[in-house]
Amino acid sequence: MVVGTIRAAEERYAPLILCFNEAITPTVPIALGMPLLVNAARFANVPVATILDHGTEFDSIVQAIYYGSSSVMFDGSILPYEENVRITQELRKITRAVGVSLEAELGSIGGTVLEYKETDSIESVFTDPDLAVDFVKRTEVDMLAISFGNVHGVYKGEPSLDLGRIQEIFSLVDVPLVMHGGSGLSDEDYPGIVASGISKINYYTAMARGAGREIRRIAAEQGEHLIYHTLIARGIDFFDEDTKRVLDLLGASGKADRAFPVFIGS
Ligand code: 13P
Repeated sequence: MVVGTIRAAEERYAPLILCFNEAITPTVPIALGMPLLVNAARFANVPVATILDHGTEFDSIVQAIYYGSSSVMFDGSILPYEENVRITQELRKITRAVGVSLEAELGSIGGTVLEYKETDSIESVFTDPDLAVDFVKRTEVDMLAISFGNVHGVYKGEPSLDLGRIQEIFSLVDVPLVMHGGSGLSDEDYPGIVASGISKINYYTAMARGAGREIRRIAAEQGEHLIYHTLIARGIDFFDEDTKRVLDLLGASGKADRAFPVFIGS
């Protein structure tokens, strides 16, 4: 994924953020996974940032910083509000000291990317705009993930997104807003989401399922001749093509010069 997505970002002259998510790849230690992302980002010809996605453990977040990630996310969205604020404030002190960007989440985004399971946005807790103002003021986070009908993994039925809520939060806080659960919508939905004020879109499940279909196709085509490195090479081509499609869809193509990631030690 790393090789294919970076190749796509370079070909499209688009900025990119590579996420490392411990829940999705529990068998890859941060000590191996994060340096891989950080090095790939460092040598890319376009601005590429890295982030620890949905960090919930203090140790993981500190490790991600140690291994050079340009940003980390603390996800305290299921905690009581004051607890979410308190831990985010603690992590703000640490991240600020070393120049690492911090994302936090307010309101809860339902669903899972770990299994094929449809999720209703009703299961989510939408972000309260007034609370978002208080949260950003007190925690001084760099990016805020909000809940407005977006769900992780597979959407159940027609997604119902509250764009008015994004617009209201966008008008009240001055940090970039993040959409998790970014894949699985219709192509026509994305321009409105971006125009409403979302700057960072986390996109995974639809691409991962597409890769699964591609692997099945390659396996059927190659039969007994399938060998691992063919799969890797064709997998990279798949992620390259699909990432270009998504970058175009989200309006990121051609915008590399609008992003300025900062790497520690570089
Ligand atoms: P999807 O897998 O639903 O696209 O969401 C990814 C995500 O939000 C990871 O944080």
